[in-house]
Amino acid sequence: MSKTIIITGGAGFIGSHVVRLFVTKYPEYKIINVDALTYAGNLENLVDIEGQPNYIFEKANILDAPTIKAIFEKYNASDVIHLAAESHVDRSILSPMDFIYTNIAGTVNLLNIAKEHWKKDMEGHRFYHVSTDEVYGTLGAEGLFTETTPYSPNSPYSASKAASDHFVRAYGETYHLPFVITNCSNNYGPNHFPEKLIPLFINNIINNKPLPVYGKGENTRDWLFVIDHARAIDVVFHHGKDKETYNVGGFNEWKNLDLVKMMCSLMDEKLGRPPGTSEQLITYVKDRPGHDLRYAIDATKINKELGWEPSVTFEEGLSKTIDWYLQNTEWLQHVTSGDYQKYYQTQYSNR
Ligand code: NAD
Ligand code: DAU
Repeated sequence: MSKTIIITGGAGFIGSHVVRLFVTKYPEYKIINVDALTYAGNLENLVDIEGQPNYIFEKANILDAPTIKAIFEKYNASDVIHLAAESHVDRSILSPMDFIYTNIAGTVNLLNIAKEHWKKDMEGHRFYHVSTDEVYGTLGAEGLFTETTPYSPNSPYSASKAASDHFVRAYGETYHLPFVITNCSNNYGPNHFPEKLIPLFINNIINNKPLPVYGKGENTRDWLFVIDHARAIDVVFHHGKDKETYNVGGFNEWKNLDLVKMMCSLMDEKLGRPPGTSEQLITYVKDRPGHDLRYAIDATKINKELGWEPSVTFEEGLSKTIDWYLQNTEWLQHVTSGDYQKYYQTQYSNR
């Protein structure tokens, strides 16, 4: 069946992998990538597919109601996969309002426009909201986040994502908007903006710069290769049940310091540096305020009900990711100039 899907945030890290998967796997679908191209949006992520006949890019801000409405009408959008967001926790601590605007108001704007556009018959449409495991707050040493874990967000970013999840659910109940939500763990892979742990540290190791580990490096994250997240979005978009939430995770927990040490040793090998060289770059800096100790996803539901599981081991995924950055130095240079440099100075100058 043919569909016309608006994918918001398609020029970002995860969005670009979702756009690529849908454009190449479903030539019968029309994919409209709607992105404001903030500092995190980069059309270079999509050069390989930009000429495909079923791919269209529309530069637009999800807060701009008339423009978004016009895009819905122009293409008669049948579905939305919503990824556009401010996504970096540290930026949310420096400027929370940006997160309120895009993540909450932007999502509600999209919900309103989708609801109006589909109001004659909601049947057959889907509003897919891509969210995060951070809405559940933090875990102690034991336990996993399930779909019924109470929301308990600790950062302005996770609070804004939690609010957006609630609005999506509320539009489902109040206006019968057909929706599905996924809450995913930490992604890594090619095209990841080098302000997040893994790409920042790869970039700093390449350039022999300090590796700023927050606190003692004891915080734990559950890492998933970005292409496996895109595969999960494909499965849930097509087979997930209406009004359901699915947790997506890598069954792959790492303490930050252990992960950083593994990255250092892999990169020493790949860069032909003597073992132990990059570890000397590790620098302990002031902890992130409200730093969640541990995230870990129980992905049993998506596995049992929809048959999804990660396809890439962490060793494979991390090695592929590092190779991608080593081979794409021009991409790195482009994204590490300008605005990103200003942010880097503000974030790390007083740590
Ligand atoms: P990203 O920051 O790399 O990309 C965000 C994209 O959204 C960019 O292309 C940006 O230009 C666009 N955008 C931002 N504000 C916009 C606006 N107002 N209007 C239109 N476009 C706008 O983010 P990401 O890491 O790819 O995350 C994508 C989504 O997945 C987010 O909703 C995030 O909360 C969620 N998520 C991310 C992770 C992760 O580990 N990165 C894990 C779970 C969930
Ligand atoms: O869990 C999903 C979330 O994962 C997504 O919703 C977010 O969009 C995404 O940014 C990510 O959030 P985190 O805060 O977990 O990711 P980040 O890469 O910023 O940090 C990972 C861990 O590394 C965290 O414990 C903080 C630590 N860290 C991070 C940076 C940038 C450092 O020690 N030093 C750093 O310089």
